[in-house]
Amino acid sequence: MSVLDHGFLFGDSVYEVFWWHHGALIQEKEHLDRLEASAQRLYMDVQFTREALVEAVQTTAAAAGASPDEDAYVRLIVTRGTGPLGLDFRQVPRRSLIIVVAPANRPAAEVVERGLSVAMVDRLRMSIKALDPRAKTGNYLNNVLALHEARLAGADEAIMLNAAGDVTEATTANVYTLRAGRLVTPPLDAGILEGTTRMRILGLCKDLGIEVSETTLRPDDLLSADEVFLSSSVKGILPVTAIDDRPVGQGSLGPGTRRIREAFEAAADAEAAARLA
Ligand SMILES: Cc1ncc(COP(=O)(O)O)c(C=O)c1O
Repeated sequence: MSVLDHGFLFGDSVYEVFWWHHGALIQEKEHLDRLEASAQRLYMDVQFTREALVEAVQTTAAAAGASPDEDAYVRLIVTRGTGPLGLDFRQVPRRSLIIVVAPANRPAAEVVERGLSVAMVDRLRMSIKALDPRAKTGNYLNNVLALHEARLAGADEAIMLNAAGDVTEATTANVYTLRAGRLVTPPLDAGILEGTTRMRILGLCKDLGIEVSETTLRPDDLLSADEVFLSSSVKGILPVTAIDDRPVGQGSLGPGTRRIREAFEAAADAEAAARLA
C-alpha cells in the first residue's frame, strides 16, 4: 500500500471483521451490507462487487493456510485509495482492498466463566454529528484511547457514554443488560455501531421468549442489572462481571447470558453447516 493512501493518511477507510467458522464467513450478508452502508456515510463508492470481495477473502484465507477446522479472524478493509496529498478525495480514482487473516483468538472457557471487568471511562463516544459510530471506519482513535484508559484503570474493557451521559457501547462490542429476564440494549441513536452480533442476538432472544428492548441505559442501570454482557463477531458473547471494581450480578457468567450465548454459538454452527452443505 502506498504511503499516499488516504486510508493510511487520514483513516479514510471502511472495514469489517468477520468470524471465519468451519470455513464460512458468519453473517456474511450482514457484514457486507454494513460495509456498503459505512462507505455511503463516507461518500465512498466501494467499487468492488460483493462477489469480488468474498472471492478475495477466500483466496487470502487459503493463502494464509486457514482451515475449516480452525476459526479465523478476517479483516476486510476498503480504503479511499492513493491520490494527491490532501484531504480532498475527489481526485482519488481507485479504492484499495486489504484483507488480513489471523488466528481467531476466541475467549478461553475460563474467561467466559469469569467474565470481563469494565471501566466507565471519561472519554465520550464520538458524537453522531461528528462521525456517526454506525459507520465502521478506519478512524478508531476514539476507541483506541478509551481502551487504553480502561487498561490504565486496571479494567479489561471500556464502556463509553455519549454527551447526554447515556451508555453507548464498549470499544469493539455492543453492551446489554438483563434484568428480571428482560434484555435491554442501547438504541442506535445513542451513537453506536449496529453490531451484526447484536442483530442476531435480538432475533434469537425473540425465539427464546426473552423480551427485548432497545432503550436508553444510564450507568446505574448497568451497575444494578442482574447481568451485563458484551457482543462482537469473533469473540461472541462475553459477560461483564465487574464495573469500576464493583461486582455485577453474581460476579461470574450468569444464567441468562449463558443461555443467549449457547443459542448464539449454536446459530453460528447451524449457519456454517447450512452454507457449506
Ligand atoms: C465499536 C464497535 N461496536 C460494536 C461492535 C460489534 O459489532 P459486530 O457484532 O458486528 O462484530 C464492534 C465490532 O468490532 C465495534 O468495533
